[in-house]
Amino acid sequence: MCGIVGYIGKRNNAADIVVNGLKRLEYRGYDSAGVAAIQDGGMHVLKRAGKVNDTEELLRSTPLTSGLAIGHTRWATHGNPTDLNAHPHSDNLNEIALVHNGIVENYQVIKAKLLKEGYTLRSETDTEVLTVFIRSLYDKLGGDLVEATRLALTEVRGAFGIALISTLEPDKIIVARRGSPLLVGIGDGEFIVASDAAAVIQHTRQVIFLEDNEMAIVSHTGYKTKTIDNRTINSRIHQIEYDLESIEKGGYDHFMLKEIYEQPSTFRDAFRGRLLEDEGRVRLGGLSRVAEKLRNAPRIIFTACGTSFHAALVGEYMIEQLARIPVEVEYASEFRYRNPVLREDDVIFAISQSGETADTLAAIREAKLKGASALGIVNVVGSTIARETEAGVFIHAGPEIGVASTKAFTSQLCVLSLLALYLGRMRDLSRKEGIEIVKAIQKIPDQIESILAQAETIREIAQLYKDSPNFIYLGRGYNYPVALEGALKLKEISYIHAEGYPAAEMKHGPLALIDEHMPVVFIATQDELYEKVLSNIEVVRARRGRVIAIANEDDDRITELADHVITIPNTLPHLTPVLSVLPLQLLAYYIAVLRDCNVDMPRNLAKSVTVE
Ligand code: G6P
Repeated sequence: MCGIVGYIGKRNNAADIVVNGLKRLEYRGYDSAGVAAIQDGGMHVLKRAGKVNDTEELLRSTPLTSGLAIGHTRWATHGNPTDLNAHPHSDNLNEIALVHNGIVENYQVIKAKLLKEGYTLRSETDTEVLTVFIRSLYDKLGGDLVEATRLALTEVRGAFGIALISTLEPDKIIVARRGSPLLVGIGDGEFIVASDAAAVIQHTRQVIFLEDNEMAIVSHTGYKTKTIDNRTINSRIHQIEYDLESIEKGGYDHFMLKEIYEQPSTFRDAFRGRLLEDEGRVRLGGLSRVAEKLRNAPRIIFTACGTSFHAALVGEYMIEQLARIPVEVEYASEFRYRNPVLREDDVIFAISQSGETADTLAAIREAKLKGASALGIVNVVGSTIARETEAGVFIHAGPEIGVASTKAFTSQLCVLSLLALYLGRMRDLSRKEGIEIVKAIQKIPDQIESILAQAETIREIAQLYKDSPNFIYLGRGYNYPVALEGALKLKEISYIHAEGYPAAEMKHGPLALIDEHMPVVFIATQDELYEKVLSNIEVVRARRGRVIAIANEDDDRITELADHVITIPNTLPHLTPVLSVLPLQLLAYYIAVLRDCNVDMPRNLAKSVTVE
């Protein structure tokens, strides 16, 4: 949510470098963008509402020569996405410029104090208040930008990732974080600060991640890190593993489509090296330290948001079926505030693609406070959730750029199926059953390919229904969370109202919505609830609803009932969601494209939600 980039170093096109970095972060927020650079001792700020391209145009008409710049792409929290509210913000004398991710919760109090002291504020943002606050402390101290920033941050409540430059001390970028990610990339004679590694890897793979309540002072020749309460620290240098190609579109029209098509390989990457076929079990190295805890866990809790929450719901069914351990799934935003009952031997898993979602992070902190073991199922290595959990499993899906999550979901399902098998084999699941599951998992990548090969059929269905104002998605058992996910995909990127429901629940309300204009997507695979789902389809047809069915390849009965059928290969019931979700991803994608929506950057949304 919002992206920050900063550059200090030997090159003199710092502003261009920053804007290019912002393009790589645009998936995190795209309401407005801007850049500030110091040229010939003066501060130059270019910013405007709209996408990074608009700021780039500004830069083209006003080129800046500078070795020091910061920039921002914004997802609006305080204040409308206008030119004035865009970042960077500067102080009254235009000598300090600051970009900020997060929310300063006590900005009203600070603002009142500043206005009383005679400072003026132009925008509606908490960020400008923070900038002017730092300026006021700088004035009081009679200099010392680092100390002024540090003191300001000790008074700030809420979350922040900031980067700041100043003509008063034009030899440094100051960055700091609490609750909002920030890293410093260490290049050859240059440093790139950013909120996300995607903006850095073009220049270097060596980074340090700031932890909460840490700041870094980055100069042309080096960097120093310390805590906001002024203790010196030594930050470890990490190596970023993924390459540039993985954050580029590679010939696809959209990142979302590329990520949908990556799923045969990302699914494989999630189980690679983890299956022990002969023994019918899995090896999850990241959990070995907590194996005993998991063996004895009386209960598992999953906490997550958005698509990751839907993966967690599938995980609940998987683990209860294969390992017979009670599982609870909680929205992180609810869990963190409702004083959940936790026992010391409970195990809580945070599921998060980004590893930075504020509510999910807060939920595991709450669980740890209450003595539970917090583990992670995370995509981004080095992310805050990955660092703050005791152990966990990475899903290895590679960077996911499309705001609507696709490949991360199927990789999460892969890891959850491995976890269920791991826990099951610690309990009653037999070797024979384990072998059957391992074999089924290995087949999935080819099965995914065969579904993606039906893209054209799905596009034709999308063409027929693209103007429907509403959609209903229905499924039962393992396919109920898939119905939720299918509806979420559609509403996220096409702005069509869509609801997911357990199929049998429709008679308690949604049935009233059915008429000849209502498309109803049924996920009707041949599991133990298949007959029941067929009856549900009959009920919808009797009300003239239009039925789009996701069914198994050898299903003849469904073709008589449904208006359209998209087929998927057979697999074990608990692996079905991996396959049944794919047509729904493609359906949402094509409908959004046909409606001319911005698929990768849907309005009002952001990829990584680092504010609550
Ligand atoms: C945002 C994204 C979703 C994602 C959710 C949770 O809403 O747009 O795609 O599912 O956050 O994110 P996480 O990174 O924690 O999985």
